[in-house]
Amino acid sequence: MKAVVVDEDNGLHWQDFETAVANPDEVLIKVHATAINRADLMQRQGFYPPPPGASQIMGLECAGEIVAIGGNCSRFAVGDRVCALLAGGGYAQYATAHEGSVLPIPGGLSFAEAASLPEVFATAWLNLFIEAGLQPGEKVILHAGASGVGTAAIQLCKSFGSPSFITAGSDDKIDSCIQLGAEAGFNRHQSSFLDKAKEFGGESGIDVILDPVGGAYLKDNLKLLGLNGRLVMIGLMGGSREEIDLAALMMKRIRVIGSTLRTRPVEEKAKVMSQLYERVWPKIEAGEISATIDATFPIEKADEAHELVTSDATLGKVVMSVI
Ligand SMILES: NC(=O)c1ccc[n+]([C@@H]2O[C@H](COP(=O)([O-])OP(=O)(O)OC[C@H]3O[C@@H](n4cnc5c(N)ncnc54)[C@H](OP(=O)(O)O)[C@@H]3O)[C@@H](O)[C@H]2O)c1
Repeated sequence: MKAVVVDEDNGLHWQDFETAVANPDEVLIKVHATAINRADLMQRQGFYPPPPGASQIMGLECAGEIVAIGGNCSRFAVGDRVCALLAGGGYAQYATAHEGSVLPIPGGLSFAEAASLPEVFATAWLNLFIEAGLQPGEKVILHAGASGVGTAAIQLCKSFGSPSFITAGSDDKIDSCIQLGAEAGFNRHQSSFLDKAKEFGGESGIDVILDPVGGAYLKDNLKLLGLNGRLVMIGLMGGSREEIDLAALMMKRIRVIGSTLRTRPVEEKAKVMSQLYERVWPKIEAGEISATIDATFPIEKADEAHELVTSDATLGKVVMSVI
């Protein structure tokens, strides 16, 4: 098969690679589309190695057709159109996925649209609803609201009854996030989001913050959370260190939760995927929630596609089509 291989100078090449083989708990997917995640940019630089046992090829999600099925698998048949959450290996013509990480493509969606769903919807669902236990009516802040994860999270908050406030890097992105369902937003390049987000939180403050920024936002995040607030840390784009006053955490009974999806056991990922299938897939099929795709590239142009994501100019996902 062909796959995207990273050379010694971090260049990307679509070249021959050993064909993936499914183990008994996995299916083999002929990939028609894959999508880029921020983690791929880090993996390319050597900072985010795949977990043990995972493919060395980049790519945390894909959509395509099942071409082979492991002996312990029973949910799918050869020829099924599916999308999958992967621990790696999506930037290739064939990828293996644990059966529990695979879902049927929601009716009516293209392979490109379906490839853009698994990683960001699984991340947003896991962290908002399972980790933070978000309840209808609770107020949410979504940092990097225009990111892949952010655009999924905005739609989930809107659809499940929680008003959200986002931060993003331009006024245009804020407008787009409001169109997707956010109530308000703040341009992170202007100053601190603190005052504007305080207005949104009102007297009771914010209930849940989904934060991929980390150190740079920690103090303001803790100021904004109300009683029993939950801060879920999913990234460190703004650094991993900051000094905080633990008294505020205690007095407001705040919970700070660290979370990664990729390294979780397959059983935990299967739980997230099955909840997505039951609670979110019907909303996608009904058109209430949709894939947010900024651009699509042929996978041979993976370098160009990565450049676009690195520029921070994207809204939602960048997809790569595979022939
Ligand atoms: N823990 C997990 O399991 C998990 C899973 C998936 C993703 N993530 C994390 O979630 C984040 C979003 O991932 P993604 O793939 O959806 O990203 P993405 O689509 O590439 O979007 C990332 C966006 O973050 C904003 N940004 C960049 N640097 C920033 C900084 N220093 N401070 C604040 N904002 C910054 C930029 O938008 P603006 O310029 O508009 O702000 C950029 O477009 C990443 O940090 C990723 O590592 C974590």
